[in-house]
Amino acid sequence: MFATVLHHLKSPENTGMIVRMHVAFNGNELIIVGPEPWRFKKRTQAFSRRLEKICNLIYLKDDEALFEWFDVNEYTPVAVEIAENPNFLPDFVFPPRPAIIVGNEGTGLAPDFIDRCGAVVTIPQYGPVACLNVAMSCGVAIYEFMRNKPVKHEISQQKYVIDDVQSLPADQE
Ligand SMILES: C[S@@+](CC[C@H](N)C(=O)[O-])C[C@H]1O[C@@H](n2cnc3c(N)ncnc32)[C@H](O)[C@@H]1O
Repeated sequence: MFATVLHHLKSPENTGMIVRMHVAFNGNELIIVGPEPWRFKKRTQAFSRRLEKICNLIYLKDDEALFEWFDVNEYTPVAVEIAENPNFLPDFVFPPRPAIIVGNEGTGLAPDFIDRCGAVVTIPQYGPVACLNVAMSCGVAIYEFMRNKPVKHEISQQKYVIDDVQSLPADQE
């Protein structure tokens, strides 16, 4: 049981990749924070595979609405960010209902936003790169939260057998 939160992301490709990861790991709500609802056009859908159509998508326009939503829905906000005093991911114990929050490609999550979250977790890096791509970061955090949960689907011909994907409605755009 987890929610994923995209905090003012800009890139269609990143948004699409996160949607696919969220669905693959059976996330609950996928929250998009931003002034306007996200428009799923071709660049996003090339990466999401139109899986947003089977997501419980929620648009929230600002942080006030977001933190109110966490309270009402009993999620613990977990900021995924490079923090000065890091809680590194391998040692991090996730709360039972985490909302996994990633920041935008330009500035990331602001310190005052992180202070409002229940926890902040940092992915360790070992090579000469200042930060990771946001979709990669989100994927690593979701994977780590889910990694000991049982796998529900059969595998056949190098794919998980999922009937629902076959019945996704055609792209309207
Ligand atoms: C590209 S980074 C943001 C920009 C970055 N703060 C900078 O100043 O260049 C986008 C997002 O990816 C995530 N991120 C990237 N590297 C991370 C890491 N090592 N640990 C945790 N989150 C990371 C965070 O959610 C961050 O807000």
